[in-house]
Amino acid sequence: MEKSVVKRENWGSKIGFIMAAAGSAVGLGNIWRFPYLLGENGGAAFLLIYLVFVVFIGISIMIAEFAVGRKSNRAAVGAFKSQSGGWTFAGVIGVLSAFFIMGFYPVVGGWSMSYIVKSFTGLLGNPEAIGGTFGAFITGSTQPLIWMLAFLVLNVLIVAKGIAGGIEKAAKLLMPVLFGLLVLIAFRSLTLTGAAAGLSYMFKPDFSAVTGQTWLAALGQAFFSLSLGMGCMITYGSYLNKKEDLVSNAVLVTGMDVGVALLAGLAMFPAIFAMGMEPDVGPGLVFVVIPSVFAAMGSIGTLLSIIFFIALTVAALTSSVSLMEVAVAYFIDEKGVERKKAVYGVSSAMGVLCVLSSLSLGAMAGFTIPGLGVGFFDLFDYITDKIFLSIGGLLLAIFVGWFLDKEELRQELTNGGTIQFGLFEAWHALIKYVIPVAIAIVAVAGIASIEQTGLMVFGLLIIVVLAVFSKKL
Ligand code: TRP
Repeated sequence: MEKSVVKRENWGSKIGFIMAAAGSAVGLGNIWRFPYLLGENGGAAFLLIYLVFVVFIGISIMIAEFAVGRKSNRAAVGAFKSQSGGWTFAGVIGVLSAFFIMGFYPVVGGWSMSYIVKSFTGLLGNPEAIGGTFGAFITGSTQPLIWMLAFLVLNVLIVAKGIAGGIEKAAKLLMPVLFGLLVLIAFRSLTLTGAAAGLSYMFKPDFSAVTGQTWLAALGQAFFSLSLGMGCMITYGSYLNKKEDLVSNAVLVTGMDVGVALLAGLAMFPAIFAMGMEPDVGPGLVFVVIPSVFAAMGSIGTLLSIIFFIALTVAALTSSVSLMEVAVAYFIDEKGVERKKAVYGVSSAMGVLCVLSSLSLGAMAGFTIPGLGVGFFDLFDYITDKIFLSIGGLLLAIFVGWFLDKEELRQELTNGGTIQFGLFEAWHALIKYVIPVAIAIVAVAGIASIEQTGLMVFGLLIIVVLAVFSKKL
């Protein structure tokens, strides 16, 4: 490892890659965020729009990210840069997005970890107090910080071990566990009396609740949940060998991601309605409603609650390692930094952001960043979800559709003509014309409707500054 020209790491197996990519996609986005967004945006109508975005935008972008990564053999920044220096900024936005998402993700990951313990230390004993307990916990100063650090340390341990030995191994073990646990809980939830109301909430659309914000929320969620728009799947694709079928892998990973989100919905909404609770309580949904639901089930509830939060933590972990890897891979690929050093540096910086966002819910709760009107947690969440990811996806589509050679793409996606991709023309037309326009419309409408104008200007300013100054990075 002394020379800078070390052989690039690779996934150990096909199933290992799929588990890692699905592990990246399936995360807090599916189990924490998707159900509460569904709850806030009126249920089935949001689900329908979300599914349309996943099918027509998500899968295509994932195929494109895999292709760009494997073709260039480089992580986010290097992949863009290898085409032309002018595109470096698109990769840099991705690395910045990784820092921003990792500025709040481990905080929620830490909450989830702590709820494993809380599940058997009395949380469920007093159902009336569950909401208050969550509020008191996340606004506290030391406890959430300690759990966040613990979660971050797990990330460091995995990412420091590299691709095949760390990330792949963890995902291969943990993803099937997660899936099994969710099936179990969904089964319990669906067999409660009154579960049907939850099903009709999830699947019977009421379009009167749909606004411009709903569309942006659905697009943001599609990118967030599928780990798209910031070079994460470019990075994972870059470790993939030339024999894999990129298209079928993308379809498989997307299918698993949607499947787990729906499963999470099925685990939660039937129970929520059966227990006469409200679906639209926001980010606390998982941490307040689910324990309440379990508390009403007696001693089996305690067990299910422990299992549930283990599953949530596992899902969060296999996702956050992929986010950390995007930033780590940048320093390895572009700066020649050794993996361990890159991991320590990157995770320390992310830890600082996490302290800020955790405290922004507690000790610094009243503080909003001057000119932006939000605290740190919301800043990192909004700026990535509402601005960076969709703009990142837009840039990638333009890059692939207009700047990469179409025939080379065909070669990459058919492994040099040895496998079929019957829909290649349709995919290319989607990437080149339809997706950029669709994202632009949703993003402009959505960004324009962000209440905090300062935040919008700030986000766009970062992008412009990067576009101008990132050639040297
Ligand atoms: N997809 C993950 C989730 O749903 C989060 C995530 C991992 C992510 N890597 C990403 C989001 C890259 C956006 C971009 O929780």
